[in-house]
Amino acid sequence: MDGLLVLAVLTVALTVALYRQKPKGPHPPGPPGIPLIGNILPVEFPWETIRRWGKQYGPFIRIRLLGTPAYVINSVEVAIELLEKRSTAYSQRIPMPMIKLSGMDEGGLYETNPTRLRHARRLVASGVSARELESYRPQIRSHINTLLGRFLNTPDRFFDHIFHLPEEILMDITYGYTSKGHGDPFLKEAEKWILNFASASSVSLYLVNWVPMLNLLPGWLPGTGFKHIAAASKKQADDFGEEAYQLALKAGKNGAGKASVVSKAVSSEEPFEKHVIVKSATQMVTGGADTGVSTLQSFMLAMTLNPDIQLKAQEEIDRIVGHDRLPAYTDRPNLPYVDAIFRELMRWRPPVPLVPRSMAQDDVYNGYFVPNGAFVFVNAWAMLHDEDKFPDHDTFNPDRWMDTSITKDKDSLYIGFGFGRRECPGKLLAMELVFTSIANILAVFNVTKARDAHGNLIIPPADYTSGAITAPIPFKCDIKPRSKSALKLLRAPLDDQTT
Ligand code: HEM
Ligand SMILES: *[C@@H]1O[C@H](CO)[C@@H](O)[C@H](O)[C@H]1NC(C)=O
Repeated sequence: MDGLLVLAVLTVALTVALYRQKPKGPHPPGPPGIPLIGNILPVEFPWETIRRWGKQYGPFIRIRLLGTPAYVINSVEVAIELLEKRSTAYSQRIPMPMIKLSGMDEGGLYETNPTRLRHARRLVASGVSARELESYRPQIRSHINTLLGRFLNTPDRFFDHIFHLPEEILMDITYGYTSKGHGDPFLKEAEKWILNFASASSVSLYLVNWVPMLNLLPGWLPGTGFKHIAAASKKQADDFGEEAYQLALKAGKNGAGKASVVSKAVSSEEPFEKHVIVKSATQMVTGGADTGVSTLQSFMLAMTLNPDIQLKAQEEIDRIVGHDRLPAYTDRPNLPYVDAIFRELMRWRPPVPLVPRSMAQDDVYNGYFVPNGAFVFVNAWAMLHDEDKFPDHDTFNPDRWMDTSITKDKDSLYIGFGFGRRECPGKLLAMELVFTSIANILAVFNVTKARDAHGNLIIPPADYTSGAITAPIPFKCDIKPRSKSALKLLRAPLDDQTT
């Protein structure tokens, strides 16, 4: 491994020396680096280190990672100027060799082909538009009912239950596929796909993502095991995509006909190519799964740590929704405090803290030269943890969103989903899924600190994973129905389902 690292550094140094473009203007400011190595960026929570660099050097900085320059946007103002107003230049993605080798670069997050990207984004955005979402509302409702039932029956496994919710909803809306519960073999394939996609995106797991030249080495050399892993992942992804597509066509035709994003795309007036439909559909599943899970786990953590906030939200739900029904997404405008919890979750622990982009052409910003092909990182974390806008920035405090006008420059629901041409196309579904889930959990359960064998309260450490998507590390909490009427309310739809 060490030998490989040296090789990697040398290859990068060589590439940079050979192809270094003469800068056509001064570089933006940034932390001084070590020759060849550049800046030392910790593998864990790099967004926090970059946020601190931003405070020192400004909202638009240049850093060097193993000799490769990268530009970082640390403020909303610069993000709007570059990612929205100059989106043609700033909307490409960093090519990830492991993703490409695994055949996962098309139809979504890593798409680099402009035509295919346009079709894929249209397919997803129109597939889960506000109007379409209304037609999927009963399905979302039923998956959330299932979640509440699982919380009731096996509260200790709440981490698992939350893990399954977004993927079950996405498989349903994307393909019309109804999960048969934990252990469903096709759901397991979906999970494998989600996991392989996340691994193939990782730079720490696959050095080839940072040093593309490693891909030129023959497959029998040590250190090229990634090629075999990529081939296996590609086969799994292709098989899953095709099978899910076929299931969607069948479900769409069946008796009552269960429409889905895929079945509608196939029969839509827009001539979507099959290839694009297959690929973008799989990208909906990966786009929504880990992100939704992260937000909901952060919610459970925030509620465990802040009983007073939970109580305030429950009082609002009792007052507005009452005790005779469960909350619905249409209640959102009347539940400002629950909405504030959602906004604060997206600010306090945004699932995607650092968004990778790259340049599609040269640009000059504020006199600084930014070359075509350069890596650009959008540091949403820095924007959402800006102490001037969010005093006491690391404290979970929904009250910051109450009784104030929420402007674009501090709106976590704007910043947390990306900017301009590559903003999240599943945003409306994401908001509906997360908001409805948290409102329903609040309506019927008390989430409190668990007790250990000696009866002492367990305070969760509130640690997070570091990666493209950050999420709470499993912790313990206690989940109990709030009252007899809550219990009745959450049981009613489950009893209906089984009869
Ligand atoms: C809480 C949930 C979610 C969060 C926080 C989130 C956040 C994001 C972010 C930050 C990006 C990158 C945007 C950029 O480059 O500026 C993105 C891209 C994407 N998201 Fe989401 N997302 C969520 C849910 C979903 C859902 C439910 C779907 C499925 C419909 C989805 C599908 C996608 C796709 C396909 C892309 C790639 C778009 C492109 O590269 O052009 N996301 N998301
Ligand atoms: C749920 O929490 C509320 C407020 O803290 C409390 O009054 C109620 O008794 C709790 N319910 C249960 C079943 O513990």
